[in-house]
Amino acid sequence: MKAGEKNILIGIVVFMAVVMAYRTFVISRDGGDKGIPFYSTASKELQNEALLLMKKLKCRDCHTLWTQRNIMKTVPSPPLDGIGSLRDEEWFFNYFSAKDPQAILASRLKPEFRMPSYVALQEDQRRLLAKYMGSLKVEDWYLEETKKKEYEKLTGKKYTP
Ligand code: HEC
Repeated sequence: MKAGEKNILIGIVVFMAVVMAYRTFVISRDGGDKGIPFYSTASKELQNEALLLMKKLKCRDCHTLWTQRNIMKTVPSPPLDGIGSLRDEEWFFNYFSAKDPQAILASRLKPEFRMPSYVALQEDQRRLLAKYMGSLKVEDWYLEETKKKEYEKLTGKKYTP
């Protein structure tokens, strides 16, 4: 190995060490890695019942929940994690009870990918789903960061809350 090549190699190693040290000490200290920011206020019982029904109805064919979805399907639907920080139980109940959910939330997708109507479900099942959706929260800092990123991506302007 020539001396020049050796210097380049040493340069790369030093650079990487600095980047790693920066990530470890600076980013993590001010909270760069805070883990999954989602949580639920539901009781174990409510959660078990709701997840069982959602499994039967295949909600995860289209939606991410607890960061997981059916990877064989590719419908670009909104994730359900944290959704209860954006809307409330009553909204969810009306949405699941609508004959035409797209009248409430417009869709740009092909009809087969859109949110189906669940008006045919029993009322207590729609209430169960609505209650569980309302319990799916997201930490405030994550919501703020997401809003900020969306805003800056869409407008190209700096976000000021
Ligand atoms: C065929 C795919 C599909 C299935 C199955 C499906 N959804 Fe959806 N869902 C969507 C799409 C797409 C949207 C966004 C609105 C639209 O395009 O119709 C949506 C929207 C929603 C919303 C509103 C999200 C928001 O941004 O406020 C909730 C809540 C929801 N779905 C819950 C459920 C639940 C609970 C189930 C199972 C009972 C379910 N979905 C099953 C595709 C689906």
